[in-house]
Amino acid sequence: MRDPRSILITGASSGIGAALAKAYAAPGVRLALSGRDPARLGAVGALCRAAGAQVEEAVIDVTDRVAMEAWLTTLDERQPLDLVIANAGISAGTAAGWERPEQARAIFAVNLQGTLNTVLPLLAAMGKRASGQIALMSSLASFRGFPGAPAYCASKAAVRIWGEALRGDLWEAGIGVTVICPGYVVSPMTARNQFYMPLLVETDRAARIIKRGLASGRARIAFPWPIYVGVWLLGLLPPALSDPLLRRLPKKG
Ligand SMILES: NC(=O)c1ccc[n+]([C@@H]2O[C@H](COP(=O)([O-])OP(=O)(O)OC[C@H]3O[C@@H](n4cnc5c(N)ncnc54)[C@H](OP(=O)(O)O)[C@@H]3O)[C@@H](O)[C@H]2O)c1
Repeated sequence: MRDPRSILITGASSGIGAALAKAYAAPGVRLALSGRDPARLGAVGALCRAAGAQVEEAVIDVTDRVAMEAWLTTLDERQPLDLVIANAGISAGTAAGWERPEQARAIFAVNLQGTLNTVLPLLAAMGKRASGQIALMSSLASFRGFPGAPAYCASKAAVRIWGEALRGDLWEAGIGVTVICPGYVVSPMTARNQFYMPLLVETDRAARIIKRGLASGRARIAFPWPIYVGVWLLGLLPPALSDPLLRRLPKKG
């Protein structure tokens, strides 16, 4: 959608979500922003209002299916959403040892169930209007399971594959679906990484790349391209060749 006027972004209180909110903020634009931290979310909302946007903030955990459904349906009835960006996510890995069950389950709950909770309640209404665009935040980590972050890679792979299939399924209904696959982007999530992150992308630049890709209705927005090519090739290698390589990579904290 070239010029969305009513936009919802989950995980807008920080990092890429906050940068996207600011990138879209302009007079005539209505932003619905969610996150869990009221102070940080409020600060992003204030900046977007100062840029001329009409802003509604909601402190909601994306894993709360009932609360999400209530908020989204009310919001969409009041102001039909043009663009929904399911961005909220968490990450953690195996730097401290095997992934604990609670960690793996929390990652799947936020990254996968949270995405479903953001998108599913809106599909019927979007289908009725035969319009709307859905953007799902996956990752370049979705192209191969990395030993340093098993649940994270798997949750992002599920989101990517779901989005790719959904795009074909919803095409006739007039709903667009885009999957976003960033490499390393500067944010509080990556600030914790104690290792070298190749081709780290500035947050505002990532937001601009994503906004441009969404405006042209791209199926997949993957960047930076050298890492994209690298992980894509890695996914093609037989595990007997790629496993020894991947075992040497640093693990997420
Ligand atoms: N940074 C990267 O290199 C990178 C690369 C590829 C993909 N991604 C993906 O991009 C998305 C944004 O990440 P980021 O780097 O911007 O990280 P971030 O700065 O940590 O932001 C994560 C956002 O998600 C929200 N969030 C987390 N758990 C939530 C929950 N249960 N309910 C509601 N909101 C929740 C956070 O809200 P609160 O802080 O208010 O809790 C925050 O606004 C994530 O899906 C991440 O996996 C990031």
